[in-house]
Amino acid sequence: MDAKTNTKSATLTVDGKSVELPVHAGTVGPDVIDIGKLYAQTGMFTFDPGFTSTASCESKITYIDGDAGILEYRGYPIEQLAQGDFLETCYLLLYGELPTAAQKAEFDKNVTHHTMVHEQMSRFFHGFRRDAHPMAVMVASVGALAAFYHDSTDITDPKQRLIASIRMIAKIPTLAAMAYKYTIGQPFVYPKNSLSFAANFLNMCFAVPCEEYKVNPVLADALDKIFILHADHEQNASTSTVRIAGSSGANPFACIAAGIACLWGPAHGGANEAALQMLAEIGTVDKIPDFIAKVKDKNSKVRLMGFGHRVYKNYDPRAKLMQQAAHQVLKETGHGDDPLLHVAMELEKIALHDEYFIERKLYPNVDFYSGITLKAMGFPTSMFTVLFAVARTVGWISQWSEMIQDPAQKIGRPRQLYLGATRRDYVPIDKRK
Ligand code: ACO
Repeated sequence: MDAKTNTKSATLTVDGKSVELPVHAGTVGPDVIDIGKLYAQTGMFTFDPGFTSTASCESKITYIDGDAGILEYRGYPIEQLAQGDFLETCYLLLYGELPTAAQKAEFDKNVTHHTMVHEQMSRFFHGFRRDAHPMAVMVASVGALAAFYHDSTDITDPKQRLIASIRMIAKIPTLAAMAYKYTIGQPFVYPKNSLSFAANFLNMCFAVPCEEYKVNPVLADALDKIFILHADHEQNASTSTVRIAGSSGANPFACIAAGIACLWGPAHGGANEAALQMLAEIGTVDKIPDFIAKVKDKNSKVRLMGFGHRVYKNYDPRAKLMQQAAHQVLKETGHGDDPLLHVAMELEKIALHDEYFIERKLYPNVDFYSGITLKAMGFPTSMFTVLFAVARTVGWISQWSEMIQDPAQKIGRPRQLYLGATRRDYVPIDKRK
């Protein structure tokens, strides 16, 4: 279905006056009531802090059914896409269709040949303190790309938009690895075009010039899957930030930098770090019952991190794949007996059978196993959200691109319920009491 269809209408009665509001049907998922003309018809706005009942745009990219635990990119279930590689998912998100073998080869080559960043960027990095959080460095360096690549900032030119998109998918991993290397005082490692996307990232993060580093294919494969699982998630906070920033006509590098800034928050990208911390605090399987009791105690404010989700009221489909990746990585790195993994598995088992969690539809989310997996790969916790940003870049850029091409696109400008002072007159400072 290309255009939205009106299936029915809704009637709203305000002060005895009724207005008819069109109702649009999506291809799947709930219908939406179109309130675009509500203000003109009634002089009223709607009030929905946190946008819990508001569809902010039309989109053909990602579909989530939180009750059924379904996540699909362009109609393909995430479990099936995980059989391919991350760049295939990137192509799908960006262009709308899976690539043929020839298209895939061309796309891989294109991304691979944009992985280097302007040499001057390395000087830019040296302006930061060594103890800078890598997410702070990411926000700044991604925003700064606009200062280095002027030839892809004209958003009215489809060719420039595409070049900017490819550049970001290709260069953000390089910047992420540089941010990491900088904080640990090691030299930057240039991208290696003979490696896959994930293997190249591992090489840029963990290789050093003084010895041979061989990328472990099991870890590269697991990281590739992690990237696929995080590639897009419809209109979440950071994606909505990218769309709002882009709605003013800002250049794509600035928009993605805004998305990274939003992702940095602990309620969004930082939850895997909190889940890992929680597992470490519990420490051993015998402490789980005490911890669960604390979680259930309303006065304790303790939550089972990595459980529950605003949208998924069923098992997060990404969590199942993440659990497999965790086992794969921990076995390969010799952490198969890591007490944290045992704690995680036991905690999950107990919570899934506990009335408190069942009643509230609390299931493991993608963050439950991702921290433990990334830690076993050798990443410090400060890099967890950076890895999320590397994966989500393609989602952000695909959503941004869809928005720019939408003929109905307008600058994002929500209204408010004003509760401040009513009009009063200015009093000169010498006359104020
Ligand atoms: N542990 C214990 N109880 C919980 C949890 C949890 N993780 N999550 C929700 N609840 C309880 C609440 O206390 C509440 O109980 P009540 O009805 O008795 O008051 C009920 O479940 C509903 O909770 P809400 O906070 O209203 O649910 P909401 O959908 O707003 O919150 C959220 C979703 C923020 C993710 C929440 O489940 C949470 O805090 N989880 C832990 C943090 C986490 O893992 N975040 C990662 C999300 S995934 C991502 O961003 C990639």
